[in-house]
Amino acid sequence: MSNGSLLKFPPGFLWGTATSPTQVEGHIDNEWTHFTAQDGGNCRIACDNYHRYPEDIEWMSRLGTNACRFGIEWSRLQSAPFAPLNQKELERYIHLLDCLKAKDITPMVVLHHFSNPPWVSAAGGWTNAATVPAFVDYVRQLVAALKEKVFLWNTFNEPDTYACVAYLLGGFPPQHKWKLGQFRKVIAHMARAHVQASRIIQRDGNAGRKPEVGIAKNWTFFHAYKRFSPWDRTTAFACHYTFNKFVLDAFLGGGRRRASTFIGLNYYGRVRFHHFRAMIPASGTPVRRLNDFGFVCDDMVERYPEGLVKILSYLGRKFRLPIYITEHGAASHDEKFRERDLHGNLAALHGAMAGGVDVRGFFYWSLLDNFEWQFGYTKKFGLLSVDFADEKLPRTMKPLAEVYSKICRNNSFQG
Ligand code: FCB
Repeated sequence: MSNGSLLKFPPGFLWGTATSPTQVEGHIDNEWTHFTAQDGGNCRIACDNYHRYPEDIEWMSRLGTNACRFGIEWSRLQSAPFAPLNQKELERYIHLLDCLKAKDITPMVVLHHFSNPPWVSAAGGWTNAATVPAFVDYVRQLVAALKEKVFLWNTFNEPDTYACVAYLLGGFPPQHKWKLGQFRKVIAHMARAHVQASRIIQRDGNAGRKPEVGIAKNWTFFHAYKRFSPWDRTTAFACHYTFNKFVLDAFLGGGRRRASTFIGLNYYGRVRFHHFRAMIPASGTPVRRLNDFGFVCDDMVERYPEGLVKILSYLGRKFRLPIYITEHGAASHDEKFRERDLHGNLAALHGAMAGGVDVRGFFYWSLLDNFEWQFGYTKKFGLLSVDFADEKLPRTMKPLAEVYSKICRNNSFQG
């Protein structure tokens, strides 16, 4: 794999890890609390990061990361629309931010990552327009509390994935299927909330640096396996149109672009269609069988590092905003595979930056093996493994953690 050249990143480049509250914290009361994943698991304890965050921050520091993308859980902070924030829970997040600061780790705070307070879900979630002012009020109060400690704000994580899996594919609560109207409403409401929340963040942020705000867009390439299959091409185009184009337009089209100061890109790879079937492990086709087709996959989707150059160049040209890779990672028990995947994608990232795309940071998904939504604990994305069979939930560095750590410390790697 190595071509011998040292690929350097610019000074100040952020190297971090990413997590989300429902996946790691445990002890949460949201729509996932009573959800049973395909492996029988649930998120009720998860990695117990709720109690163990000081230890997890120690690990981040040991890894040599200088940034961390984590979520604040709305359901912990507001028990009713427009209620004042729960002070005890707020204090915990403030302590977490102070622990990060003590280790010189820059926080990027995610405000919405696939979960809602129960009173939001009960009222129809994001299909209900009333969720927009409720969320904006939450953000206003949260920003007032944290504005001196946080300058990087990520309003919504993957609105496309959330609306698709919850309202089209039935994988996330409320597990609706093929409700295209609801999908569109969710996106429209989240986009409106993003614009309003971003205004507040840009106006009130006061952390000694200009506040930065953006969404994290999941970008998946959708292609036909056989280039000349009209049906698979149509399916791929429909997916691209719905999940990429429509969503980007909703959040960043026209005057809305001004609401964002950056674009967060979550990039994993590609989905190819064959006889209408999505040829990926996440849809049930075993990795081995996909290998027979010549596909390189982790336990979720096809790997496609070339695509990272394409999408970075496209986003850079189209929106002229700085970009953070807010997530990239691979789920596999094969650490050598994950190492190749990381190197391939970082080489692509470096290539795009050398070509002029302004990328400011990279956050590895994920710090820990965790609760991977409808798949439960079977998908191993962590730099650290967690022994879920041991009630102390001990963390252990995996080989990839050593590899990533070296990259973070050197701000470069051997390409
Ligand atoms: C992204 C999600 C994140 C995790 C990774 C594997 O789509 O944002 O929570 O599930 O995929």
